[in-house]
Amino acid sequence: MVAESLIAVISSDLKFRERANAIAELFKIKIKYYDSVDKFSNSRDEVKDAVFVLVSAVNAKEVSETAGLVQVAKVTSPQANIAVVAHKKVDTAAAEIIKTSGASIVMLENEYFENSKIELVVSRKLYGEWIVVKTADLVKDRPINFTLYHLMPLNGRFLAILQKGKILDETHLKSFDSVGELYIKKEDLENYKKYLIESNDVSAEGLKRRCRAVYLSFVDSYKNLAMLLTDQSEAASFDTGRELFQQLTQMAEELIASLNRLREPWLVINNSGVEDFTAIDRAPAISSYAGMFSMELEIGEPEEVMIAALIADIGLLDLSPAGVLAVKEGNFAALNEVDARIYKQHSLISVNKALSRKVPIPENVKNIILCSHERVDKKGFPNQIGLEKIPKESFLVHFSEILDQLTVLRFGKTRFTPEEARQIVLQQENTGGAFPPDMLAQISKMMTS
Ligand SMILES: [Fe+2]
Repeated sequence: MVAESLIAVISSDLKFRERANAIAELFKIKIKYYDSVDKFSNSRDEVKDAVFVLVSAVNAKEVSETAGLVQVAKVTSPQANIAVVAHKKVDTAAAEIIKTSGASIVMLENEYFENSKIELVVSRKLYGEWIVVKTADLVKDRPINFTLYHLMPLNGRFLAILQKGKILDETHLKSFDSVGELYIKKEDLENYKKYLIESNDVSAEGLKRRCRAVYLSFVDSYKNLAMLLTDQSEAASFDTGRELFQQLTQMAEELIASLNRLREPWLVINNSGVEDFTAIDRAPAISSYAGMFSMELEIGEPEEVMIAALIADIGLLDLSPAGVLAVKEGNFAALNEVDARIYKQHSLISVNKALSRKVPIPENVKNIILCSHERVDKKGFPNQIGLEKIPKESFLVHFSEILDQLTVLRFGKTRFTPEEARQIVLQQENTGGAFPPDMLAQISKMMTS
């Protein structure tokens, strides 16, 4: 989608470059290396449109030196997000100075090498400003309250094809048909949602459209929360944490209400493909499944279960890039010692991240998260507690995580059938021990009816 995007790397260190190269490969974007900020600024023509500049400032002796590097980078690549990798001793005040100079993010050296925070940041920059809309969701003969863009495959640029306020007619729709997907800017997302809701289309298709729009904003708010939860370089504020938490709770309610009106909610979520680069990109899908189980089986409060599912895997961002891949593939045996330890502790790490960033999670939600990998047979983690101590909601989160993993791997972005859903539940019954059998029976009944 962003094939021509460029990431410019300012560092002569081989290990630093290797890590950057892995990121460029993951996102399939171009990469260019510069030994020093001087060489970088002398290559203005090459880098003026870079979307991302990654600056190593690990050898900088003073904060002012780092701030200077950032200022030059910003002037040279004005459109870019400047990410600074600083020495591990940089404190919050220093990070603030570096940000004031133009850096959008300051990472510590260990964060850069050892976890996948940078992937989250890059994916936010590359994909966060644009929202994919399905052309089939556009309504004929109505004015649009957002501008529609087309992504030109040859140069990866976005071209405005229909301006805000214009009426979308048959000819437009016909010409969009072959494209399948168009883009809107993130700032138009609320307008887009309003447009779909106001279209008052209560047909099955209309309801799906609305649900997809609500889901898109749910994903967006979640990404904001994820960024907040993983930013070690900025002082946490109660207000931001509380605000995001409230916003997400409200969106969870809205989404569950919208999913509730659909005949095949699974398919809408499964088909609402969003990017899948980091360890936590699937969280909104997992959360939606868990919320639906909660509502249908009358276990807990759906929005609480959804919030728990959203936060439960944030700890996975501490995994190394290789660890993320292994977990995504379900190949846990491939985890090295450190990653295996992080994986087994990830529920706890998630809760701690949320608390240290001052997100006001209620006690029961905290407990749902903590137990989201505990099992009936006491072979779960981190505490190996048994059935009587595990909140029922935790099983829903755990099951949803498995369900999503299996469906993403098996069926990609295509639909999964009730029969396939039944097989997944059956598999859990047979390999047994994780879930209470009566709950699996209920889930099976719900997914196949
Ligand atoms: Fe998990």
